[in-house]
Amino acid sequence: MGITKICCIGAGYVGGPTMAIIAQKCPQIQVTVVDLNQERIAAWNDEDVNNIPIYEPGLSDIVKEARGRNLFFSTEVEKAIDEAEMIFISVNTPTKTYGKGKGMAADLKFIELCARQIAKVSKTDKIVVEKSTLPVRTAEAIKSILDNTGNGVKFQILSNPEFLAEGTAVQDLLNPDRILIGGETTDEGQKAIQALVDVYANWVDKDRILTTNVWSSELSKLTANAFLAQRISSINAMSELCEKTGADVNEVARAIGMDSRIGPKFLKASVGFGGSCFQKDILNLVYIAKSYGLNEVADYWEQVIIMNDHQKRRFSDNIVKTLYNTVSGKKITFLGWAFKKDTNDTRESAAIYVADDLINENAKISVYDPKVSRKKVLADLDYLQTRNSEENADNVLSFENPYEACAGAHAIAVLTEWDEFVAYDWQKIYDSMQKPAFAFDGRNILNASDLQKIGFVYHAIGS
Ligand code: NAD
Ligand code: UGA
Repeated sequence: MGITKICCIGAGYVGGPTMAIIAQKCPQIQVTVVDLNQERIAAWNDEDVNNIPIYEPGLSDIVKEARGRNLFFSTEVEKAIDEAEMIFISVNTPTKTYGKGKGMAADLKFIELCARQIAKVSKTDKIVVEKSTLPVRTAEAIKSILDNTGNGVKFQILSNPEFLAEGTAVQDLLNPDRILIGGETTDEGQKAIQALVDVYANWVDKDRILTTNVWSSELSKLTANAFLAQRISSINAMSELCEKTGADVNEVARAIGMDSRIGPKFLKASVGFGGSCFQKDILNLVYIAKSYGLNEVADYWEQVIIMNDHQKRRFSDNIVKTLYNTVSGKKITFLGWAFKKDTNDTRESAAIYVADDLINENAKISVYDPKVSRKKVLADLDYLQTRNSEENADNVLSFENPYEACAGAHAIAVLTEWDEFVAYDWQKIYDSMQKPAFAFDGRNILNASDLQKIGFVYHAIGS
């Protein structure tokens, strides 16, 4: 008989959407998503589905369809673990901020807490699925905790990393390029793999469901993110060379992307990649390589992060330099704060670092983002601990209306590629700004010649 009860620990950007899709596609399975964060669970249960804590196109409709039928959000972690046959661990695995490996290694304290809680509560055999992104060989540690409970319960551990991207989570989950499942080669391991394959087979073609050993699966996730981020750093490196030589990075990207061996995706030059995972996962990879004494491997991947930091810094430096080497007291308007369009997530967004640099130069930052609140913007800056909260609050304004955000500005900087920015009345914005009116397009989304015709001094990335 197949799985009938699933529990997912962690109701975040991965746990929430992933379980919503499983519940939608498998009405025969009861799916309970649990979290320690009461506020987050309350938001998932909000009567108005528009108030769920994560903004993803299409997600609220799916939650509306399945919630209360076979999809449940709860803070009763132990009860959900006890009842489930299969438990997904989808908690956060941030970069360590203390001790050995500080600033590099993944902090696995939340993972270990989950393992200990599962060990304590379980009275029946369970399949434990690593959904979080984890260092290779983490399953070994989880297994060691679970196998030492002494209560005779048998556990199988699977690795099933998630490849969804924010902003397209629903589409990515409905039509994944592949589902990856790693498990033990023993009979029990293969049975556990089959149980999870059967869940996905409710909507994913069997030939897209790949099964491997546990270590390959764990390492493939870090590898995929490293390769994706590497493409961005590679094109961003070329963007700086383009600016010096008269080449245009968009044209270069198009030209190389038509080579079927290179492919056209993930070649958009930008102010730098953000998001909660690329940096954390590469740092983790670097740390793992170093821990095996593979210094050349570590240095190779670390360069992706060094390049990305350089790209963010280059963007803020260029604003200061172009504005006659001083932004002191000047109003600079940020269009966008999220790390990419169609999400309310701001973790590691380039906007945070660019704002921090400009505030150091005494600029006044105005922010408009269709999905990000002032509270979030200030929390992101406070997290850097560059200055105190009052100073951040004094130097940053937020607006609900983009035209008000831009009025009186010396410069506009596009930090997120929200579609609506392209459609704005740029003449109206120009008329309301200080002159010369500067526009720094960190996403290359605006029409350069239209803006120049209006009178803007327009700066793109890589041309
Ligand atoms: P998140 O911070 O949005 O969510 C994690 C949740 O886990 C939080 O709500 C937290 O309260 C909860 N939690 C932590 N410890 C807990 C415990 N012991 N019991 C119950 N709840 C607990 O994180 P996320 O973005 O969903 O990422 C989760 C994992 O998935 C990470 O390893 C990440 O690398 C990986 N991942 C993320 C993405 C993405 O797009 N965000 C994509 C693929 C993989
Ligand atoms: C990324 C991966 O794409 C997912 O496959 C993976 O599951 C996820 O990380 C994860 O492990 O967390 P995500 O960070 O949500 O997804 O979004 P991406 O679309 O990858 O964008 C990441 C950053 O790179 C954004 O700041 C984006 O603006 C930037 N980017 C992306 C570019 O600057 N240029 C590009 O060509 C593509």
